Amino acid sequence: MERQEFLSKLGIGLVAVCAGCSLVSCGGSGNKSSDPVPTPAPTPPTTGSGNLFTVDLSSELMNIGDSKVEQGIIIVRIGNDETANSFTAVQVACTHQGNAINYNNSQGIFICPAHGSEFSKSGQVVLGPAASPLHKYTVTINNSILTVTA
Ligand code: FES
Repeated sequence: MERQEFLSKLGIGLVAVCAGCSLVSCGGSGNKSSDPVPTPAPTPPTTGSGNLFTVDLSSELMNIGDSKVEQGIIIVRIGNDETANSFTAVQVACTHQGNAINYNNSQGIFICPAHGSEFSKSGQVVLGPAASPLHKYTVTINNSILTVTA
């Protein structure tokens, strides 16, 4: 009888202790801080910064549709010859909410995967929700070295 009373009290005590542990451990289960948060694309300088970066065309951007992102700018080869008109360079951050755009070679436009905005090769808005154009950068080429300038 004494043993049974002891075990009974112990059982109640364990339930109370376990309930306390459970309550403590439940505190973090509703935390959504680990949910992925979209990272806005970096914002490149738009004026007064001179040469931003160079691309060696003998080893990069060799085919139409090839693209490269550097310093918040996406540069795409849109033509065969090695002239500035065969390339376009625009800010990679969508003007809607800043997500990174991609170049769709088959459609010849930039598309934002976040909400579907579309931009022409020169950065003009083709389809919203974006309302402002992408900043376009100057491209020059000298001896197969392409330079992007603000
Ligand atoms: S962030 Fe590009 S369409 Fe919304």
